[in-house]
Amino acid sequence: MTGTPPPSAALAVGARGLAKRYGTRCAVDGLDLQIPTGAVAGFVGPNGAGKTTTMAMLLGLVEPTEGTGSVLGHPLDEPESYLRRVGALIETPAFYPALTGRQNLAVLAAVGSQDPRDIPGVLELVGLTERGDDRFRGYSLGMKQRLGIAGALLGDPDLLILDEPINGLDPSGIREMRGLIRRLADGRRTLLISSHALAELDQVCDWLVVIDRGALVYQGPAADFGAGSETSVVAVPERQDDLPRLRRLVLDAAAEQGIALADVRLAGPTLEERYLASTNGAPR
Ligand SMILES: Nc1ncnc2c1ncn2[C@@H]1O[C@H](COP(=O)(O)OP(=O)(O)OP(=O)(O)O)[C@@H](O)[C@H]1O
Ligand SMILES: [Mg+2]
Repeated sequence: MTGTPPPSAALAVGARGLAKRYGTRCAVDGLDLQIPTGAVAGFVGPNGAGKTTTMAMLLGLVEPTEGTGSVLGHPLDEPESYLRRVGALIETPAFYPALTGRQNLAVLAAVGSQDPRDIPGVLELVGLTERGDDRFRGYSLGMKQRLGIAGALLGDPDLLILDEPINGLDPSGIREMRGLIRRLADGRRTLLISSHALAELDQVCDWLVVIDRGALVYQGPAADFGAGSETSVVAVPERQDDLPRLRRLVLDAAAEQGIALADVRLAGPTLEERYLASTNGAPR
């Protein structure tokens, strides 16, 4: 299942037949990728599906065994021509525990020849302004992840690649990370965000690439993923006491019985349900 590809000029990332083999193991198996410029693209697949390997190939960290592609209009095999415009967070970022968040960003900016004057802005964007002068070692996991994203944002990249930024976060960390992703989606910058659990990215992505065992399962608008699936009616009574009665009634009957409905809507299967159905839900 593949969505209609946008014209290639509007692609932040395009790839054809991208493959990576390690011996006889195929980590990535002939992927065709189309990520429109400005998209917030979720890159989803079970553990071992090939997400990190694909991202590493886009960043010039892993050499493809086969395939061609482009990033921000430059050939994949010339990463030096586009990497300055790409920010990335792959695996847990290495920071100095004894330095503050702000000092760690200053080190990154110096190493990457980025303007240190960007630091207050990126700290603000990731919500760390108030904790910027605390040592990294005292940060929560969510704060560490957000500092990693702040580092990736130095230089104001046109493409931001985040590998599992939500992994391991508690519910409030997940909420903060989702808020941050929404703030980063300014319609100009392209985001590619991986996750092994589609539910983590529900509501934040407008484009989806789903892979399983190195191969494409779905690519296209997030809203179209699993479209055409059966829908059902969800009815929520205003008063909880009405719930047992409501269960036995259809909508018209509810009105006749004087039950005020707080919410009536159509609900399809959640994105997560569609995703599990399309990948057999089997982590490997
Ligand atoms: N350097 C390597 N040498 C050998 N095999 C590798 C190497 N890197 C990845 N693989 C294999 O390639 C497959 C894809 O791995 P990859 O890390 O890209 O998956 P992933 O989708 O990022 O998984 P996860 O959700 O667990 O992070 C796995 O079977 C993995 O064992
Ligand atoms: Mg991975």
